[in-house]
Amino acid sequence: MNQDQWKAVDNYLARLLVPPDAVLDAALEASTAAGLPPINVSPTHGKLLHLLAKMQGARRILEIGTLGGYSTIWLARALPPDGRLITLEADPKHADVARANIARAGLEGIVELRLGKALDTLPQIAAGKNGPFDLIFIDADKQNIPRYFDWAIQLSRPGALIVVDNVVRGGAVVDAATEDTSVQGVRQFLEIVSREPRVSATAIQTVGLKGYDGFALALVK
Ligand code: SAH
Ligand code: DHB
Ligand code: MG
Repeated sequence: MNQDQWKAVDNYLARLLVPPDAVLDAALEASTAAGLPPINVSPTHGKLLHLLAKMQGARRILEIGTLGGYSTIWLARALPPDGRLITLEADPKHADVARANIARAGLEGIVELRLGKALDTLPQIAAGKNGPFDLIFIDADKQNIPRYFDWAIQLSRPGALIVVDNVVRGGAVVDAATEDTSVQGVRQFLEIVSREPRVSATAIQTVGLKGYDGFALALVK
């Protein structure tokens, strides 16, 4: 198995199961045109997030790490008309692109983007009348995943689902001696979640358009 094959299979699956969508395609085009890094979730994984939100019957979703709003749109489309998604983004340029993409998707009444470092905006979310959330998607800087996970538990209702992206990092996650602070963040998170009695968790390795990575799922008891 190699990257070409993973890509071919992901494209095949997406062709059948994730039909072309003008709004999502435009969001990616606008992100590329603005020079944003192509680190959004893939179409098949975006649809997975959408299905997970539906399975949760989610009405309130929190996302940490917006980029151009691609995963935001997938998640927000799972919400009922009176649902709400708050997404946190530190980079003003990413936030501008995301706001335009969210508006083009007709989701500005449902999605609220909070600009700022998530460790600064999360306490504001907790202090306001925003939660508790039914699904939380953690996909920002990997060094802070342990801190984001702690906030996620605090902001969750019983039965909430916490999804953490990029927990395999091409297999680097098994390197206990790694000097990569992103991988260190992921490893600290996995050790914390293994000892956290308030959740039941697992992690899945994935291959596809974006290479070899994975995500963790933690269900709040
Ligand atoms: N969820 C997006 C991808 C997010 S990429 C998708 O799949 O479409 C990670 C994003 O997190 C980037 O836009 C980056 O600017 C943002 N980010 C990095 N550090 C952050 C921080 N401390 N607080 C909030 N956002 C941060
Ligand atoms: C990176 C971040 C992501 O959220 C992702 O899905 C892939 C890569 C990164 O920072 O390199
Ligand atoms: Mg990611």
